[in-house]
Amino acid sequence: MTEHIPVLLNETIDWLKLTKGDVVVDGTINTAGHSLEICKHIGSTGHLIGIDEDKDALAFAKKNLKNVTPKHTLLHGNYRDMDTLLTRIGITKVDKILLDIGLSNRQLFDSGRGFSFAKNEPLLMTFNSNPHKDKLTAEEIVNCWDEENIADIIYGYGDERFARVIARNIIQARSTKKISTTFELVEIIEKSVPSRAKNKRLHSATKTFQALRITVNDELQALKEGIDKGINLLNPNGRMVIISFHSGEDRIIKNMFREKQKEKIVEILTKKPTTPSIEEVKTNPKARSAKLRAIKKNN
Ligand SMILES: C[S@@+](CC[C@H](N)C(=O)[O-])C[C@H]1O[C@@H](n2cnc3c(N)ncnc32)[C@H](O)[C@@H]1O
Repeated sequence: MTEHIPVLLNETIDWLKLTKGDVVVDGTINTAGHSLEICKHIGSTGHLIGIDEDKDALAFAKKNLKNVTPKHTLLHGNYRDMDTLLTRIGITKVDKILLDIGLSNRQLFDSGRGFSFAKNEPLLMTFNSNPHKDKLTAEEIVNCWDEENIADIIYGYGDERFARVIARNIIQARSTKKISTTFELVEIIEKSVPSRAKNKRLHSATKTFQALRITVNDELQALKEGIDKGINLLNPNGRMVIISFHSGEDRIIKNMFREKQKEKIVEILTKKPTTPSIEEVKTNPKARSAKLRAIKKNN
């Protein structure tokens, strides 16, 4: 299995200011990278609740948490529904919440769901390892959506300069053959980006793949709902820490935290986002775009 190295681990633990007996929600537990460390700080009276959309990830989390001291409960679902998920297990208030949003290395390299342009896989891109048959997939977007909508998401969620050309070439390619795999899509993107604009550090397909993944999983809307519900669930002095990897996500977090501060519901703890040290980026280059923001609920 490809290992996922938890990003900004020490900083996350510091900002959460964990104490014995805390009830903590890790809304994106994945294989429990951050949660294993959280468990060391909340003792035998603490309770960790881990949520993930990906059932396969939860199975790994369960194994990894086997020997920890605190009580732990793993819930399959979307963190945008954390209020209902928690009510089902009798919890209405929590002390700390962590969201480390996006994709894990395991999903990128081992899931077989088409997140990586470097592997030839079906174009799914769903966080859920066993999605409902009606769930939107990347294949549906590239084969059924109209040109303008495809261009808009590639530009809006991927900041891709060549979004219009890519969308036009997708429409042209699918008129002769359905686009079913990552490599078929990569070939279309490669053809759409002029060689002078090809960047040695960033593959031409990076931005389009990111945009499709964000759309398939409705990630920005889930984030807005997750922040809202999370803040409601927090006890006075409770804390929420969010790590994001994309400017669109960070903007949502910054603006929502500011609004809630204006309404005197929370206090922003990170005036500027916390970013990884040079040493962390050296050992884990994937951490380079990470930004952490933290808030504390008012009394
Ligand atoms: C970056 S990984 C988290 C890594 C984790 N903190 C660790 O160190 O192992 C993100 C995880 O969040 C999950 N995820 C993303 N969006 C989600 C959502 N809206 N609801 C529930 N899980 C989500 C993904 O399936 C993935 O497992």
